[in-house]
Amino acid sequence: MIDNQHRQILDYINILEEVRKTGDRGRIKEVLEDLIDYTQSHFIFEENLLEQVHYQYLPSHRGIHDLFVKRLNDYREKFHQGLSIENDLYRLLSKWLINHIQHDDQDYVDAVRDNMIHYLKVQEQKKGKGWFARFFS
Ligand SMILES: [Fe+2]
Repeated sequence: MIDNQHRQILDYINILEEVRKTGDRGRIKEVLEDLIDYTQSHFIFEENLLEQVHYQYLPSHRGIHDLFVKRLNDYREKFHQGLSIENDLYRLLSKWLINHIQHDDQDYVDAVRDNMIHYLKVQEQKKGKGWFARFFS
């Protein structure tokens, strides 16, 4: 699910890349709003998941998200003031998000996987042998 959400964000970044060239502020506004909204809900989804698996670095991961959301909202604000921020925003998004997905997000994959395996093993003890194996066959 997280991978799909990341893909969706990348799609938005690609749309922004196209739309910024047209200079059409109406369309830029639309993409900008969708992208910011979607990124924010994605961060919330991710943080909830990390909370469930007791990811030990969640506070700093959340801090990184919060700072980034603040930067996105600053851009939104500037756009609404009539400034043309789409090129800067595009550069920030493509660098920051891709770096974040490849590095910061990669870091929690093991924690989530370990937690899921642990959960499945506990379920197997409760529900009998073979239950766990069915997930991996
Ligand atoms: Fe993240």
